[in-house]
Amino acid sequence: MSTQTPPPVATGAGLAPLVELRGIEVVYDAAILGVADISLTVAPGEIVALLGANGAGKSTTLKATSGLLVADRALVSRGSVLFRGEDITGVAPNLLATRGIVHVLEGRHVFGHLTVEENLRTGTFLRRLGRRETERDLDEIYGYFPRLRTKRKTPAGLTSGGEQQMLAIGRALLTRPELVLLDEPSMGLAPIIVEEIFEIIAGLNRTKGTTFLVAEQNIAVSLRHAHRGYVLDGGKVVLTATAADLRERDDLHEIYLGLASV
Ligand SMILES: Nc1ncnc2c1ncn2[C@@H]1O[C@H](COP(=O)(O)OP(=O)(O)O)[C@@H](O)[C@H]1O
Ligand SMILES: [Mg+2]
Repeated sequence: MSTQTPPPVATGAGLAPLVELRGIEVVYDAAILGVADISLTVAPGEIVALLGANGAGKSTTLKATSGLLVADRALVSRGSVLFRGEDITGVAPNLLATRGIVHVLEGRHVFGHLTVEENLRTGTFLRRLGRRETERDLDEIYGYFPRLRTKRKTPAGLTSGGEQQMLAIGRALLTRPELVLLDEPSMGLAPIIVEEIFEIIAGLNRTKGTTFLVAEQNIAVSLRHAHRGYVLDGGKVVLTATAADLRERDDLHEIYLGLASV
């Protein structure tokens, strides 16, 4: 592989993985195969992109990591999920949340009738923060997402799609996570907003060392900001490399057959 352009170095590169999937298979409704064989690692401080076409198994992989498979009557039927070296396969999502795994679901789930700030405050409940700590954390999040500060008193349902995605991410960050699972943050958003969101993610990663596993169909923008990537097809990992090496491959789009060019 080409080494002309060194990939961005993650703070945690070379460290023991924060999360590791070992050959997991997931079955929905005891009948439908969600993923067949996924192995991957994410080191502390990395941004890892999980790429693949619709139905490749990205969301299933994230749900296996956060425990949210139970909400879809699915389970890990083979292999295991490790967090900090400990087996967490099948552990309930609320327990994993307290251990620092937060999952931002696809589709910007915010409480539409609550204001932006009320939505953000729900993120602080998990840690039972005191008043001063809550205000400090909120202020920090507003620093990363200035648009949210501007709209703090607006009902979330009246904000734009981009602002709702920022709100969903901001609320997740207020749980003080170690690992953030993001499911298609770019979906349905204008390119300029997508770029803004990924720049904020990269900034959070650089300054706070927050670790991200990001499922995306948008190859271009995710590989510009990630350190490494995994390409899924048919519920399996078909390719893994540094983001720099993946950016140079011209056959990536063939794996994405049927998707609009990015
Ligand atoms: N709730 C569900 N019930 C049954 N099958 C599902 C469910 N969610 C996903 N699947 C199946 O699992 C496979 C992987 O889907 P998914 O993880 O959603 O892919 P992606 O996120 O890459 O689009 C697909 O074949 C899909 O039909
Ligand atoms: Mg999905």
